[in-house]
Amino acid sequence: MKKFFVIGNPIEHSLSPLLHNYWIKSNNIDSVYGKEKLNKNDLKLFISKIRNKEINGANITVPFKSEIINHLDKLSFEAEKTQSVNTVFLEDDKIIGANTDIRGFELAIKNTKFDLKKKKAFIIGAGGVVPSIVLALKKLEVSEIIICNRTIKKAENLNLLFEELEVVPWGEVPNFDIIINATSLGLNKSDKINLKFPTQCEGKLFYDVIYNPKETFFLKEGKKLGAFIENGKMMFIHQAAASFKIWHGIEPIIDSQVMGLLDQ
Ligand code: ATR
Repeated sequence: MKKFFVIGNPIEHSLSPLLHNYWIKSNNIDSVYGKEKLNKNDLKLFISKIRNKEINGANITVPFKSEIINHLDKLSFEAEKTQSVNTVFLEDDKIIGANTDIRGFELAIKNTKFDLKKKKAFIIGAGGVVPSIVLALKKLEVSEIIICNRTIKKAENLNLLFEELEVVPWGEVPNFDIIINATSLGLNKSDKINLKFPTQCEGKLFYDVIYNPKETFFLKEGKKLGAFIENGKMMFIHQAAASFKIWHGIEPIIDSQVMGLLDQ
């Protein structure tokens, strides 16, 4: 039986096992997918278990998506570009790091039918998921990517990876077509984002990376202002599906039953 894990810290909240084990079962695959809370010092040993085939693959989540790179042999082009890895596997005796968050975001946006070509994107936050969102936005051919973060230095550091980013101070809201909340503000139902959104938002898209709760304060605001809104659920499902495809060679089905798995 093949073994897969999602590793991170904290990890209790992760719904990846639910999703992967559902697809494993529905495709009659002899595998199991678990979760493991690790510390930074445990990463080396964990990866050595993939090398000796005790473990067959892993998803990497917060806060190790960048740190894990030190223990890998080779990165996919996208993992290299974003310096972020969420999927690990063994290929020809080499440990490979890939990034399926990019595909997850790209497909989630395509799923909304909102065409981002030549549109202006504004990202709030500069945490671990943001390089993947920036690369996906570039693939979607946006015309501009503007970013703000409470700690401006972190937004400026992203300029080292993507020099085309424009950084604005926290509190400033430029003109945009899509606004993305990539902060952790909203995970708690009482969290509010103190930004002054335009009063007219018809035709704009408010996108939140958070999917639990389903409607954060940020999305509620967007809705009130007349914007389209979308939470991070489809991004999460699509990144998982892309990892599943890498490990098992099968494109898993995404239907209402799968979507329902995450409604808890
Ligand atoms: P990491 O930085 O470890 O990747 P993350 O959860 O991916 O963590 O990112 C958290 C994001 O939420 C950051 O952009 C963070 O801003 P700072 O860089 O200034 O910490 C943002 N964030 C968290 N709490 C916030 C708050 N109360 N107000 C504004 N931004 C907040």
